[in-house]
Amino acid sequence: MHKKVYIKTWGCQMNHYDSNKIKFYLHYNNYIIVNSLLDVNIIILNTCSVRQKAQDKLFFFLDRIKDIKKKNNDIIVAVGGCVSVQEKENIFLRSNIVDIVFGPQTLHKIVDFISKFEKDKKKIIDVEFSNIEKDKDFSIDFNTNLNRRSLSYVSIMEGCNKCCAYCIVPFTRGKEISRLPENIISEICRLSLYGISEVNLLGQNVNAYCSVFKNNKKCNFSDLLKLISKIKGIKRIRFTTSHPNNFTDELINTYSKINKIVNFLHLPIQSGSNRILKLMRRNYTVKYYKELIKKILFIRKNMIFASDFIVGFPTENKKDFKLTLDLISEIKFDNSFVFIYSPRPNTISSKMLDNISIEEKKYRLNKINNLLYLNSIYWLNKMLYSTQTVLVENISNKNLGFYYGYTENNKIIYFKGNKELLGQLVNIKIIKLYKNSLYGTLI
Ligand code: SAH
Ligand code: SF4
Ligand code: F3S
Repeated sequence: MHKKVYIKTWGCQMNHYDSNKIKFYLHYNNYIIVNSLLDVNIIILNTCSVRQKAQDKLFFFLDRIKDIKKKNNDIIVAVGGCVSVQEKENIFLRSNIVDIVFGPQTLHKIVDFISKFEKDKKKIIDVEFSNIEKDKDFSIDFNTNLNRRSLSYVSIMEGCNKCCAYCIVPFTRGKEISRLPENIISEICRLSLYGISEVNLLGQNVNAYCSVFKNNKKCNFSDLLKLISKIKGIKRIRFTTSHPNNFTDELINTYSKINKIVNFLHLPIQSGSNRILKLMRRNYTVKYYKELIKKILFIRKNMIFASDFIVGFPTENKKDFKLTLDLISEIKFDNSFVFIYSPRPNTISSKMLDNISIEEKKYRLNKINNLLYLNSIYWLNKMLYSTQTVLVENISNKNLGFYYGYTENNKIIYFKGNKELLGQLVNIKIIKLYKNSLYGTLI
C-alpha cells in the first residue's frame, strides 16, 4: 500500500518551494501527499527560524501531534528547514516524537532517510551543507502554487554571504550557491510549456547570483535575466529578494533592455536611520539607497518599491524610528513587510541588550503598518483611470461574469473578459476603485 505523507511548511517562499521539491521526490517514489493528518504515515515539518515566533510554531505543532504518534507509533515524524540546521540534535531532546532531522541542503535525500529509518528504527540527523546543486532534475509537476495558476517560483540561488547583525539565515542556509544557468533555463522552459507565463526568481540575495555555463563562461544575474527573457512563453519576470549592495549599474541597465521585468521591486532597506543601519551591518547608508532608487527611476519612471523593515532593533530610539517613518512616506513603499526585532542565537546583535519594550515594538509596528496602508491607498488612487498591463489569472468566483488578473505591482483587477485571455497580458483601463479592489475595462 502507498504511504501517506502530510507536509506542513512555515517560512519564506524559498521554504515553500523546497516543500514542493520534497513532494516531488516523494511522489516519484510512490508516496501519496495528503492534506490532513488522518491516517497519515509520515509527517514532515519544513520549518523557519528567522524570528523566535516562527521557530516556536514547530514546537507547538509537535506538541499538538504528540497524541497522534502515541496512538500509532509507526508514524514517522521528520523535521526539515532552517530550525533543523539551527537546533540540530536539540530537536530530539525537545521532542521525543521526532525521528528524522534534515536540512534545506539535504532534502533531496528524504526518501533514503525514510527507508533507512523504517529499516533500522534509529534516529537520523543530516543537516550538512553541500556545495553542489541539489535539485538539478527537479520536475515542474509540483512547482505550481494553488493561488496563482500562471505564476511559478524558481529558485536560482540559495544562501547568503552577508552578515547582517540580526540575521540567522547565513547560518541556516549557508554560503551562497547559484544554480547552473542551463538548469534554470530548462526548468523555466518546461514551466512555460505547462502554461506558466510569469516567474518569480527566488534567492536570499538573487542579485548576488553568480554562476558559470557548462562551457565555463561566467553568468551573472543580468546575464541570467537576458536568457530568461528570451523564453517565448514567459511574459513577466519578478525576483525576490534583492540586496541594495548587489544592485549594479549593469543590472539597472538591464531594466532598459528587458520589458518583461516588472515595474515593481522588493528592495529591503530595514531602517531609515544610518545609525541603526550601521549597527545592523547592512553596509549602506540611506543616501546610497535613495540614490539607487533615483537611478532605477531614471530608467523606469513607473517603478514601485517595496521593503522589509525591522522595528525595535537594540537602541532604536524615537528619532531613529521617525527617520524610518519619513522614508516610508518619501519613497511611498507599497506591499511591504514590518517585523518586530527578535534576537536570534549566535547572531552579532543577540549580544546587544534587547532594550525596547514589547509594547513600544508593537506600537512602532502598528505605526508603520498604518503608514503602509496609506501608501497602498495612494497607489490605488494613482492607478484609478490609468491603463495597466494585467496578467489574466482566472475567472472570478466572487464577481459573477468577471475575470481577474494581477498588475505589475501585484494588485488584483476585475474585468469582463473571456477564457481565451487566460495567461495573457492585456491592457486594462481602471474605471472603479471599490474598497481595496480595482475594476477595469479591456482595451
Ligand atoms: N535577504 C533578505 C532578507 C531575508 S530574511 C534581505 O537582506 O533583504 C527576511 C526578512 O526578515 C528581513 O528582510 C528582515 O526584515 C526580517 N528579519 C530577519 N532577521 C530578523 C530578526 N532577527 N528579527 C526580526 N526580523 C528579522
Ligand atoms: Fe539575512 Fe542580511 Fe543575508 Fe538578508 S542579506 S539573508 S538579512 S544576512
Ligand atoms: Fe525562514 Fe529559513 Fe526562509 S529562516 S525565512 S525559512 S531562509
